[in-house]
Amino acid sequence: MTAERRAKVMQVCERHDVLVVEDNPYGLLRYDGEAQPTLYSQGQGNVIYLGSLSKTLSPGLRIGWALAPSAVRAKLVLAAESAMLSHSTFNQLVVRRYLDTFPWREQIKTFNAMYSERRDAMLSSLSSLMPEGCTWTEPEGGFFVWATLPEGIDAKAMLPRAVTERVAYVPGTGFYADGRGRASMRLSFCYPTPDQIREGVRRLVGAIEGELDLRDTFGSTLSPSAEGSQAPAADLP
Ligand SMILES: Cc1ncc(COP(=O)(O)O)c(C=O)c1O
Repeated sequence: MTAERRAKVMQVCERHDVLVVEDNPYGLLRYDGEAQPTLYSQGQGNVIYLGSLSKTLSPGLRIGWALAPSAVRAKLVLAAESAMLSHSTFNQLVVRRYLDTFPWREQIKTFNAMYSERRDAMLSSLSSLMPEGCTWTEPEGGFFVWATLPEGIDAKAMLPRAVTERVAYVPGTGFYADGRGRASMRLSFCYPTPDQIREGVRRLVGAIEGELDLRDTFGSTLSPSAEGSQAPAADLP
């Protein structure tokens, strides 16, 4: 979201007394463009801000943080304790030592250079290989490209074909509560090397071309349930 849009979202939420959860584990992972102001910086009274070391240090440490209005924070502490009994004090000490003694901002610059190269490998492979009718985002940060397939192709139905080719993605329906997103998929470029990414895109394109053949022979590959999920039935609660 642009800074203007963020400000407008916050105005609407404040006007209607809506509590906002700002989940921002990727904020420091930016490769182009300017950092945008957090929602928290614009409306602390009604924002719960979530941060994590999972993307910039290690997911296995399970260390993150929440900035929340104090009444909410007290409830969060209770909820966290009932879910986990106790946080790992040892891991928190490890992180404290890391932040105190290690040049972590420099480390993030190193990560950003690496991820930016991986993103570029994915974007240039998509540009040269994706069939006509596919579209995708060009992210300025984070780990993911959001790609959308041509009309009539169901990304979830295509997944077994892709996995057989040993390439995987998260189908777009996982990102909506109402069944939308079936033509889309989330592609990750964080872990594989640029060469592996190029090979992954080549395999993915093979799977898409297989689905396009199916569609052109038999019509849409969208399953009846997926068709139905586009518009929830009126009698559903
Ligand atoms: C948007 C988003 N929020 C939060 C998380 C989870 O972070 P954590 O490992 O701190 O639970 C992830 C991890 O994949 C994520 O993509």
